[in-house]
Amino acid sequence: MTTDQTPSVSVPVPVPDAVPTVQKYGKVVLAPMVRSGVLPMRLLSLKYGADLVWGPETIDKALIGCERIENPKTGCVDYMRTGLIFRACPSREKSRFIFQLGTASPDTAVQAAKIVAQDVSGIDVNSGCPKPFSTHAGMGAALLKDPPRLISILTALVSNVGLDTPYALPISVKIRLLPTVEETHDLIASLCKTGISKLTLHCRTPPMRPRERAIRDALSGAAKICKDAGVEFFVNGDVKNYDDAQELIKSYGIQGGAMIAVSAEANPSVFTPAALGGPKHWREILTEYVTTAMSVENQFSNTKFCIMNLVPGKAPEHKVLAKAKTYREICDVVGLECTIPEERDQGTVKTQRLKAVEEKEAQEKKERDDRKVEKLAELKRRKAEEGGEPDGDAERIKRAKVETIEDTNTADAVADLAAAPAMSATETVTAVV
Ligand SMILES: Cc1cc2nc3c(=O)[nH]c(=O)nc-3n(C[C@H](O)[C@H](O)[C@H](O)COP(=O)(O)O)c2cc1C
Repeated sequence: MTTDQTPSVSVPVPVPDAVPTVQKYGKVVLAPMVRSGVLPMRLLSLKYGADLVWGPETIDKALIGCERIENPKTGCVDYMRTGLIFRACPSREKSRFIFQLGTASPDTAVQAAKIVAQDVSGIDVNSGCPKPFSTHAGMGAALLKDPPRLISILTALVSNVGLDTPYALPISVKIRLLPTVEETHDLIASLCKTGISKLTLHCRTPPMRPRERAIRDALSGAAKICKDAGVEFFVNGDVKNYDDAQELIKSYGIQGGAMIAVSAEANPSVFTPAALGGPKHWREILTEYVTTAMSVENQFSNTKFCIMNLVPGKAPEHKVLAKAKTYREICDVVGLECTIPEERDQGTVKTQRLKAVEEKEAQEKKERDDRKVEKLAELKRRKAEEGGEPDGDAERIKRAKVETIEDTNTADAVADLAAAPAMSATETVTAVV
């Protein structure tokens, strides 16, 4: 008897490696962070599971006039003016990279967005930074006090580089809480009408300090307004890691996801779910970070700044790394082979001004030392001529010796102090990067 029923036979099916089921309610993304959100940190966050990464705020006027330079060795793209303004690595991040603009004007925002358009997957407007350098120029949190201007910026971006234009970029905005829940909701509702694709709410008001606990009372309403308008909503503020994020997303009915800043700055593997092993030990992350930073030739001062956030203050490595002046010195501590060419491993790039200050200090110190030595020799000579050492001379010799030592220490201290502000000036330049 024939039958068209296929006999049930047991065929060995290759079983894929067991992958733990991870409950996922929404995206978990890296927040925009000046200095900390520079390229290596974005790449590591993606490696450890971030769904999207925001770049550090870059001021539109700094981008306008930049030259775009590709580096075939690293695969990176540099936006340069007199110095490096911004570095991206399209081959490793473009599809998940949101570029954040600092702006106070629709015209300059659109010009800047067009410049970086080919290397990014979205343009975000910073409307939350409370720092005077942002607000005094009408940017950041100043836009929260001027909704018509914020709306005009977003509308201009949507019409000129948005999804329905040849640039096809989703436009988004990151805001903070306004003084009341109602004001916050009203603002969100009007921003949603501009055609934006995403909105992030940092659950703190502009005057609140980063250590103050995020306030969640506007969250459910904000999430609903965005959901109804078809805008992806992201919550930010006090989100610690992937699992914490999923909890929050689920509890408040959030459609988009959650954004992490400070916790990711301290360990970019917070994006890994506990079910997949959770965050890694800082030593592993440190090694990964330095390897990644060298692969994209990240500026030394930024690498050093970022690794000092990764290494706990009490760890023995912290003190040693704090003194590192080159990638080679960092690699010695971490146990890596340095891949930065020796001639370019100059560590913290000293400005011409700092070099001049240091040279002047060194020259002055030498002259002071020479004068002291001459003074001592003169006193000794007089003593020899007089054939004895009167008490007064002995006292003067002692005093001169003490002065020599004190002056030497003071000169060193002055040199250190002179270096300190100049160092932070160097780092401010990096901060713009
Ligand atoms: C070092 C640092 C730099 C930051 N830079 C930016 C920035 O460029 N743009 C921005 O919108 N927010 C910036 N922020 C704010 C964060 O994106 C985030 O809103 C804030 O830290 C709250 O998130 P958290 O509680 O997870 O830290 C920065 C925060 C830190 C710590």
